[in-house]
Amino acid sequence: MKEKKSNFSGSIGFVLAAAGSAVGVGNIWRFPYLCAKDGGGLFLIVYLALVLSFGFVLLTTDIAIGRHTKQNALKAFATLNSKWKFLGYLTFLVPALIMTYYSVIGGWITKYFCTYVVSDGSILSQDSYFTSFITSKVSPIVFMLLFLALTAWVVYRGVEKGIEKFSRFIMPGLILLILGIAIFSLTLSYTDANGTVRTGLQGLKVYLYPDFSSLTVKRFLGVLLDAMGQLFFSLSVSMGIMVTYGSYVKDDVDLNKSINQIEIFDTGVAFLAGMMIIPAVFVFLGTDGMASGPSLIFISLPKVFASMGAIGRIVAIAFFLMMGFAALTSCVSVMETLVANCMEIFHKSRQKMCAIIGIYSLVTAVLICLGYNVFYFEVKLPNGTVAQLLDIMDYISNSFLMPFISLLTSILIGWVVGPKLIIDEVERNGEHFRRAKLYCFMIRYVVPVVMLILFLVSTGII
Ligand code: PHE
Repeated sequence: MKEKKSNFSGSIGFVLAAAGSAVGVGNIWRFPYLCAKDGGGLFLIVYLALVLSFGFVLLTTDIAIGRHTKQNALKAFATLNSKWKFLGYLTFLVPALIMTYYSVIGGWITKYFCTYVVSDGSILSQDSYFTSFITSKVSPIVFMLLFLALTAWVVYRGVEKGIEKFSRFIMPGLILLILGIAIFSLTLSYTDANGTVRTGLQGLKVYLYPDFSSLTVKRFLGVLLDAMGQLFFSLSVSMGIMVTYGSYVKDDVDLNKSINQIEIFDTGVAFLAGMMIIPAVFVFLGTDGMASGPSLIFISLPKVFASMGAIGRIVAIAFFLMMGFAALTSCVSVMETLVANCMEIFHKSRQKMCAIIGIYSLVTAVLICLGYNVFYFEVKLPNGTVAQLLDIMDYISNSFLMPFISLLTSILIGWVVGPKLIIDEVERNGEHFRRAKLYCFMIRYVVPVVMLILFLVSTGII
């Protein structure tokens, strides 16, 4: 098989780049609000169990397929079995869809960051601010362009000089910022108008304490579904991204170790994000503030920063910088996957493909921005939620395609190609794949069944 020209320089570079893809707005935005919604510690326990089982299996599969075939998803599946070529195309759709809206969210983060840098940000804590911003015609497009340009620049520079170099510098910075803010969050305390004092440590208890009260089978299933959906999105699995990154890993890298490190990184950052956000929101806005769902970051947090007084602005700048870092390295991985796949198919240079994918991203992202004004409409999705353009893209990629792709991949690996191919890849340099038995059992029996259920539930069929 032909060796790829571009590669990560070694294990650390790969782990940081893959962790950069995995750690994104999902960890910092979605994880804490799901946690708040799903009974704190209960969600944490369920999520952790899923990371160690499903997360590990799906991540290992993607990365090992990538390194084994040394190809991107579009070709990799065909190499494994020519009849399964369609799976590569299906996989390619996910980053193509995510790319349309991820840079829009990146633009929102950039806007908040810039506003805190140039002003005290009090305007951001007004209730209607976020809605009026995203429904305005020009501003969201301008900030999206800024974010997209930065993403394209990193991808343009290539795997080692762009993605790896950037991740090596950004990921440690992200960890430092998040640790600092999390510790600060725990020291907070606030007395509200009724004289009730709430402290960060009480907030930590709300976060960690498993709330089993009124736990019914139905509610537990709901928590399970939330955690499962979060896991896919958070680990960037089943969308060809980890196949692409896997194809850049040198043969002498110990996959066992790298996969564990990526999982620890991703879950650790999600955990710290919860530790940073939940106590802070609890202290200043009480338990009501935590029920705010997706508006947590853009509506509740600015209120929290405003309540902190002068230091609030500094914390806000650190927060949105960190969130911007997280979003950037994720967006880079989405774009890289598109570029790399197209380079392979059309045999064009990285530069040319970057320009073409850049234009695709730009046009689609503008459409998504306009989905909040010019093209505004509301659609009821099969899972019962009301959606706009951005939510529809998110729904098709995450709730529809990802479980479906995982289902097909598990059938391909478990029953057609056989799990031995993956195990041999993990043990390539004589390493011992400790969880090999678990892997075989999961990929053959558990993953297909659970993915089928997840797919049917999230598409509203059952
Ligand atoms: N894993 C990223 C996150 O947690 C999101 C992402 C999804 C990145 C898909 C790339 C592709 O936010």
